[in-house]
Amino acid sequence: MKIAIIGTGNVGGTLALELLGLGIEQLLLIDTIPNLAEAKALDLEDALAVHRYNRCVNIRGSQNIEDVVNSNIVIITAGFSRRAGMTREELLKKNALIVKEISLKIKPLCPQAIILVVTNPVDIITYLVLKTINFSRQRVLGIGTNLDAARFANLISRQLNIACSDIETLVIGAHGETMLPLERFTAIRNLPLNNFIDDKNIKKILEETVNRGTKIVSRYSTGSAYFGPAVAIARVIRAIINDEHIKLGVSAYLDGEYGSKDICIGVPCILGKVGIENIVELKLNSYETEFFLKSIDSINQQKEILKRDGIL
Ligand code: 2OP
Repeated sequence: MKIAIIGTGNVGGTLALELLGLGIEQLLLIDTIPNLAEAKALDLEDALAVHRYNRCVNIRGSQNIEDVVNSNIVIITAGFSRRAGMTREELLKKNALIVKEISLKIKPLCPQAIILVVTNPVDIITYLVLKTINFSRQRVLGIGTNLDAARFANLISRQLNIACSDIETLVIGAHGETMLPLERFTAIRNLPLNNFIDDKNIKKILEETVNRGTKIVSRYSTGSAYFGPAVAIARVIRAIINDEHIKLGVSAYLDGEYGSKDICIGVPCILGKVGIENIVELKLNSYETEFFLKSIDSINQQKEILKRDGIL
């Protein structure tokens, strides 16, 4: 198994560290900044040695994207991260151009790969990758709402002092201001959330979930969250390489599911070695549907910007 990470900033580097424990044979780091990927690869080798793992992992750093050849999984984290006061959407054009170029380069080099998109705004960038690379929709997915679901669980956990392992959460929609944490599909030890928290506090937690990434950006001030995102990506990769058939929220291409077509958006999916095995269609009520449609609208607006500028 060869995994390539394109973009080895905070997210890519932390992700690489997480992946060391997953039993892969080859880990390739790519970055355009001279020596950065190589430095991280050397550093990671040492980390591996400290762990005294009973197997070897070939870890390489490179500036040359051609090295992704024959990768089984490619993770694209390249691009600019959010700065304080910036929305994910403001990154759109800058990052779309970078990721489009990467997609065109990797397409012939690893035609069987599963592509995981991390670059923000992740839903429209996932769509751009899918349209550029033209792989099956099973093999192009974006990361976002599984992180948002973890954030939602964390906030509940802190409020109630109950471990996250006892908390089931779900977030759908765009990984952005219009995401929809689903209170109705949230359970604590299989009991509904409102058995534990009153409506006023639930509303607060829902808002905090949506704003969590922005809060972290404003504290870092020169970058965005990376521990949470890296672990969220690693969780998806683990589901794929272990063929887990587990349900996780990822940005997936809809072709009629949820009554929508030709869009990538966060929905629960069953993940396994093929990538996305199935999209799970929840029965949304009218309130949830209305919000989900708003999320779709926000991504469609981004699509129009990219079309207008000839990027899509
Ligand atoms: C976040 O939500 C950066 O989108 C990422 O923190």
